[in-house]
Amino acid sequence: MRQIVILTGAGISAESGLGTFRDVGGLWSRYDWRDLATPEGFARDPGFVLAFYNWRRERVRAARPNPAHEALARLQRDWPGGVTLITQNVDDLHEQAGSTGVVHMHGTHLTALCAACGHRWPAPEVMAAPDPCPACARPATRPDVVWFGETPYHMERIGAALSSADLFVSIGTSGTVYPAAGFAALARKAGARTLELNLEPSENADLFDEARHGPASTIVPGWVAALLG
Ligand code: APR
Repeated sequence: MRQIVILTGAGISAESGLGTFRDVGGLWSRYDWRDLATPEGFARDPGFVLAFYNWRRERVRAARPNPAHEALARLQRDWPGGVTLITQNVDDLHEQAGSTGVVHMHGTHLTALCAACGHRWPAPEVMAAPDPCPACARPATRPDVVWFGETPYHMERIGAALSSADLFVSIGTSGTVYPAAGFAALARKAGARTLELNLEPSENADLFDEARHGPASTIVPGWVAALLG
């Protein structure tokens, strides 16, 4: 039966009240990503970076899934074939909507990471740089989020899913950040059909066999309903 691979980005959580990065008013138009989303920025001013992620975590905790997240959970439950859900997002709205086995390639807000020993634990409400790691006790606490210049998580699993995909669907992402922006080309090379569901054409719109444009909370449930017949 058909294997569906889905990639989501910030656009799927926009209607849940979480900002995107590159839209007008997006996070990277108000903050400099070099200061907040790179290992160098963290080394320069860990307090500033952790304050930013404490604020983001608070907003994620207050957010609720929208009909797009719920539709993907329904697809995963009712589709007779396989559904692999890869997200660039660090929120847990897919899980809150009922999706399972979500592949968080850019990490997640909900866990803390020890930069010294690699230990992970549930992120505290307020994360501070001197917090001792529960495993090695060294003050090396950081968000478990993949920053620019770092290697995304689960790339082997993602490569395997793309190479056996029959359908690749990109939802709510600008297609500007690699390696995620390269997934459509990889899926096509493996013979998959490609579909883009986005508010507007993304940077790599030409890689998609089909595109539907509009808010995710409308076009994603419509697509899932049609697919499940
Ligand atoms: N419905 C559907 N799509 C939307 C909506 C919406 N309501 N609102 C915005 N979009 C689309 C925008 O048109 C844009 O193409 O979502 C996309 C958001 O793009 P970005 O802000 O670049 O977010 P994303 O693609 O997820 O960024 C990728 O960049 O900063 C890094 O690690 C960060 O994971 C992030 C990565």
